[in-house]
Amino acid sequence: MIEYKNLVFEKQENIATITMDRPKALNALNKETLDELSILLDEIKKDKEIQVLIITGNGKAFVAGADITEMMNMTAIEGQEWSLFGQKVFDKIEQLPQPVIAAVNGFALGGGCEMAMVCDIRIASEKAKFGQPEVSLGIIPGFAGTQRLPRLVGLGVAKELLYTGKMIDANEAYRIGLVNKVVAVEELLNEANALAKQILKPAPFAIKMCKKAVNTGINTDLTTASEYEATLFGLTFSSDDKKEGMEAFVEKRKAAFKGK
Ligand code: CAA
Repeated sequence: MIEYKNLVFEKQENIATITMDRPKALNALNKETLDELSILLDEIKKDKEIQVLIITGNGKAFVAGADITEMMNMTAIEGQEWSLFGQKVFDKIEQLPQPVIAAVNGFALGGGCEMAMVCDIRIASEKAKFGQPEVSLGIIPGFAGTQRLPRLVGLGVAKELLYTGKMIDANEAYRIGLVNKVVAVEELLNEANALAKQILKPAPFAIKMCKKAVNTGINTDLTTASEYEATLFGLTFSSDDKKEGMEAFVEKRKAAFKGK
């Protein structure tokens, strides 16, 4: 296993956890951290043992954004490259076959909010804070925040957050649908693991197809997306898990899925 400077990676049974671990800069995403994350995500993608991934942060932040000190002297071209690079790494999270839960422990600002949004499901601790403060720095979100925020919370609420750069607390994030659940600080990882365990129960291949159908479909028109759904629906019929799931139902027993 590779040693990471700014991340901690753990694997327990079929659940993996990445802890963003650069507390001196509130886990801000510098180039080195995104490089590490990119390498680790490639490993996770290939790891058949991992069925659910949890991403969280060490200290008082989930991720306090892209590293401002690194962006200070970037040229326009470098800014564009940085944005594309961050988007590419975050896309790897979205395109992982495994579902990803963000366990948002603290500040999730700018690139941090964007990172939480690219995960499939978000659970927040009562101490979590969300926002896209980029306009206060004279820039705009660059890791697809202008695109994923409106898709998650709707245009009007997204624009209010994007134009004001204001920070909202966990309960407000829950109210607008940015997070699925708010829990006590000490319960955050237990809740994330409990949810991960619930996701471990159904057929893994079907979950993989579900994630693909939602993530691909949401970015296309309804007719094309529904046709794509039908293709993936059909594909599940070729899996052992489908055979086992339906036989188990008819035989009134618990299904034993193999993920194939
Ligand atoms: N980049 C670099 N360093 C950061 C950072 C960031 N995004 N956020 C925090 N830090 C550093 C601080 O500079 C500070 O370092 P020093 O101890 O060396 O001074 C350390 O982390 C601790 O931070 P604070 O002392 O500021 O802690 P606080 O509790 O007083 O405030 C905070 C916390 C409100 C989150 C504040 O740190 C803050 O506003 N951070 C910046 C948030 C931000 O603007 N994020 C968006 C970045 S732009 C972006 O992300 C673009 C994009 O879409 C890709």
